[in-house]
Amino acid sequence: MDIAGIAARLERLDPRVAAAAERLAVAIPAVRARLDREYERLLAGIEGSVKPYRGEVASFPRLPERGLDTDEVLRTVRDLAAREEPRWRDGLASGAVYHGGDDHVAFLNQVYATASQVNPLHADLWPSGAKFEAEIVAMTAAMLGGDAAGDDPRRQVVGTVTSGGTESILLAMKAYRDRARTGARRRVTRPEVVAPTTAHVAFDKAAQYFRIKLVRVPVGADYRADVGAMRRAVTRNTVALVGSAPSFPHGVVDPIEELAAVAAERGIGFHTDACLGGFVLPWARRLGYDVPAFDFGVPGVTSLSADTHKFGYAAKGTSVVLYRGAELRSHQYFTATEWPGGLYFSPTLAGSRPGGLSAACWAAMVATGEDGYLEATRRVLATGAAIRDGIAAIPRLRLLGDPLWVVAFASDTVDVYRVLDRMTRRGWILNGLHRPPAVHLCVTLRHTRPGVAERFLADLQTSVAEAEAEPTAAGAAPVYGLAATIPFRGMVRDLLKRYIDLLYRP
Ligand SMILES: Cc1ncc(COP(=O)(O)O)c(C=O)c1O
Repeated sequence: MDIAGIAARLERLDPRVAAAAERLAVAIPAVRARLDREYERLLAGIEGSVKPYRGEVASFPRLPERGLDTDEVLRTVRDLAAREEPRWRDGLASGAVYHGGDDHVAFLNQVYATASQVNPLHADLWPSGAKFEAEIVAMTAAMLGGDAAGDDPRRQVVGTVTSGGTESILLAMKAYRDRARTGARRRVTRPEVVAPTTAHVAFDKAAQYFRIKLVRVPVGADYRADVGAMRRAVTRNTVALVGSAPSFPHGVVDPIEELAAVAAERGIGFHTDACLGGFVLPWARRLGYDVPAFDFGVPGVTSLSADTHKFGYAAKGTSVVLYRGAELRSHQYFTATEWPGGLYFSPTLAGSRPGGLSAACWAAMVATGEDGYLEATRRVLATGAAIRDGIAAIPRLRLLGDPLWVVAFASDTVDVYRVLDRMTRRGWILNGLHRPPAVHLCVTLRHTRPGVAERFLADLQTSVAEAEAEPTAAGAAPVYGLAATIPFRGMVRDLLKRYIDLLYRP
């Protein structure tokens, strides 16, 4: 029996029993060896798609003895970019590239090229880096209901630029942990954070890195956080609650106002993860969409993440984390006073940082402006509505929740992973979700170009029909479908680690 067979048999096992059985099973050398062979077989099946350039493009498992001619190097990089560009440029990818317009990309590249040597760690050498970052934070805060220029320093919305949504979330969670450790009223040494199951996996990463207990709470039938259940999950050790605006899997906005009220009542923090919606929802509201309150206009919201490298239309590698009050932000900072290398401080996880990316982020924001974000949002939401309505009209598919532009769908009658498989064969790169099995498309400006939404819906309809015509035996299920059903989560974790190993094989 292969892994799929084992999975099919054990699907209904209690997770705790499964974990215990797994520990026992993998301790048996023969089982371990069998598993290793299975992993290798699965990975060998996808190796070609992960390493398409082997044998075609010069590879360098070690330094070339003599440096190459720069024109040749440029040709290689341009060749690789040209091979990869059509799929995202033509709007075949979910999320990934949020603007991607030729002129916009060329402009960001010019700014990056001009500022590529800037390192904000050395503010004395490059005060421009500090200027860009301070203004990125201030503009983002002002857009999200905070007024950095307000009079009361305890209430001012402040923040830092980070490398992406994950780092913004990691740092906010670290700030809550460290604030609670030194709490004036009570010291929390075993911090807990309460988050809906749909909140981004970066919260699990934060929990793992910073030894926080993450309490995941099931969402309601509308895929939004369940306020009552979240309230009941709060303990004396809870340092913060979390909600998404919107969530990555289903694109729905949690009831932030109610959740933040629970946090305020308990005197703890509340983080809105607006990585995906921070640069969309304020403009959606202005366009007349019914946007629930999610930002610093809500009194209990004490921190928020918003990704400039998504709908802020910056180059990849920047995000903003905001806090209500400089005191909370200070728990994110790192300072060292005893190191022989001198007095040291850094605001975020990295030491040296790419100031060129901050310059490009600042440039994207000021060049886009309010009118630009409004127009971009109008286009994204109009396409999101067309895609949502088109999916709702396809028999056998079912929308999850009530999304605006991140549209998730499932099916009660066909294997949705087979639909995904068919879409992949047609060139689409969509996101496979699980618990429940579903697929989503995150609409970006790439999808607002003429004909893209129509092509997506036509391909989806054909893919559903094809998936329906196929038998649904478990054996041929793609890796993501399989991984979703295996009760032995340690096995799945192993598989993921081996996948990363594979990425690092030259
Ligand atoms: C809601 C949400 N939060 C956090 C993240 C993590 O962002 P990043 O991939 O930039 O680290 C994402 C990414 O898609 C997201 O959608």
